[in-house]
Amino acid sequence: MMFANKKHFITAIVGALIAFSIIALVLCLVRIEDVTLPATVKYGMVFDAGSSHTSLFVYEWDSDKENDTGMVSQTLSCDVQGQGISSYTNDPPKAGDSLRECLDKALKVVPAAKQRDVPVYLGATAGMRLLREQNSSAADRVLAEVAKTLQEYPVAFKGARILTGEEEGAYGWITINYLLDSFTKYSPKSHTWVRPEAADIFGALDLGGASTQISFMPGSSVINWKEAFKLTLYGYNYNIYTHSYLCYGQNEMLKRLAKELITESSSSTRVDHPCYPKDYTETVSLSSFRTSPCTNPSDMRLTLGDRNVTLEGRGNASKCLDAIKKLFNFSACGQRQDCTFDGVYQPPISGRFIAFSAFYYNFKFLNLTKGQSLATVRETIEHFCTRSWEDLSSSYPEENPDRLPKYCANANYILTLLLDAYKFNETSWNNIIFQMKAGSASVGWTLGYMLNLTNMIPAEAPARVKGHIPSLWAAAIAFIVLTLALGLAALLLFLWV
Ligand SMILES: *[C@@H]1O[C@H](CO)[C@@H](O)[C@H](O)[C@H]1NC(C)=O
Ligand SMILES: *[C@@H]1O[C@H](CO)[C@@H](O)[C@H](O)[C@H]1NC(C)=O
Ligand SMILES: *[C@@H]1O[C@H](CO)[C@@H](O)[C@H](O)[C@H]1NC(C)=O
Ligand SMILES: *[C@@H]1O[C@H](CO)[C@@H](O)[C@H](O)[C@H]1NC(C)=O
Ligand SMILES: *[C@@H]1O[C@H](CO)[C@@H](O)[C@H](O)[C@H]1NC(C)=O
Repeated sequence: MMFANKKHFITAIVGALIAFSIIALVLCLVRIEDVTLPATVKYGMVFDAGSSHTSLFVYEWDSDKENDTGMVSQTLSCDVQGQGISSYTNDPPKAGDSLRECLDKALKVVPAAKQRDVPVYLGATAGMRLLREQNSSAADRVLAEVAKTLQEYPVAFKGARILTGEEEGAYGWITINYLLDSFTKYSPKSHTWVRPEAADIFGALDLGGASTQISFMPGSSVINWKEAFKLTLYGYNYNIYTHSYLCYGQNEMLKRLAKELITESSSSTRVDHPCYPKDYTETVSLSSFRTSPCTNPSDMRLTLGDRNVTLEGRGNASKCLDAIKKLFNFSACGQRQDCTFDGVYQPPISGRFIAFSAFYYNFKFLNLTKGQSLATVRETIEHFCTRSWEDLSSSYPEENPDRLPKYCANANYILTLLLDAYKFNETSWNNIIFQMKAGSASVGWTLGYMLNLTNMIPAEAPARVKGHIPSLWAAAIAFIVLTLALGLAALLLFLWV
């Protein structure tokens, strides 16, 4: 026998028992700690590199509640100084440098110990889409420089890329419905997650500097259309319609409008601008139209050198509206009702919509975000357009003087887009909510992008009860059973010997 006497044998058994008990206890403690420790806060950052400027958003959430809805909040937003990254083609390293100030600010709100785990994304939109169309190597260089800067920081940089217009639209739609809690709701009565009524799903209207997006869930009678964007969120399938119109953002629209007015004019140096306030003048160089594919003409008349043209404001609302309508090719749709312009398919609009970004900013300035009727909106815009430059600049001394003369054109553009193109009418107009924030979070594509890339919106329905860790439980139970068996064996042996 291995053991010299009974005493040694019993000592060995008791030793083994103690060892097994300690292991079992430790395993149980690990499990208990897991449940009772306060949940940790996680962070994520997204740069929205738009055509006219870049913004940084910092989000935080409770890691224990990742798969529930309405849990992510916005910690910080920061506007990057200067132009959008697509404007740095002549000096790409400056595009990267422009982001530093906001990054430094963001790192101040994230505890140092967590910074290395913070996923950082940069998404570029229509400004970079246009640059890529014009010179793809220049676009690649800008993105590479931006990535180089972000890699210098102690964060988990996940890449800089150009979003497609459809992604931009879909992520805006996800953001809105996530923030407004419309995807899934926990019903305490039936102890289960229920899908909200289809009527509680909002559509998204986004107007940027270089493109505009519309995304919504068509009515149930619309099936199998071509451009369905399929999403599975919390166990439910959504087929959403989304379309992005490049060159139909407000800045590109204004440039196209100026270009059209200049091409149609009989004068080569002074041109009437019906949308600018009376007595306001702006001088443009024809060469500026060549910097964007939206206005880069196959049009011979504009290739006649780099002369300057003076645009003279006329403050004429109805002529402004007419001039803006010419920027759309409505006749390309013929008599089709399921068509916006340029022959683009769109099912009939359905449900309520949130109109954000420039839709909101322009209407906010005009005090039109309070649910006014379409008649009131039209009247307000018409009246605003007749005000002279002197009147406007003395009435709004605080307003950016580059922006102030453009509200009339922007507002008429918004009306044309929503009514003539998307086909909202007097009644459905009341389903548009002009809103920029939900709770403390800004509405835009960035949150939806981060939610998706961090897998925070699972395809499956959320579990009601948080599961335990199966392998640890199995191990703990195995040890307890083993300990009991050994104890029993020891007892029997002891009695028998
Ligand atoms: C959330 O869901 C994902 C995938 O369904 C899963 O991997 C993750 O562990 C879940 N997180 C929590 C905190 O339950
Ligand atoms: C594209 O951009 C690169 C780098 O900025 C520049 O060297 C090149 O001349 C550009 N090409 C064209 C066709 O403009
Ligand atoms: C509008 O679209 C139609 C059909 O595509 C085309 O024939 C017509 O020339 C376009 N009109 C303008 C002004 O571009
Ligand atoms: C909007 O309303 C505010 C206060 O109610 C007023 O000061 C401002 O002039 C209004 N703006 C416009 C464009 O009417
Ligand atoms: C979300 O991300 C996954 C990759 O993680 C991708 O396959 C999917 O298409 C994305 N969803 C949307 C709406 O873009």
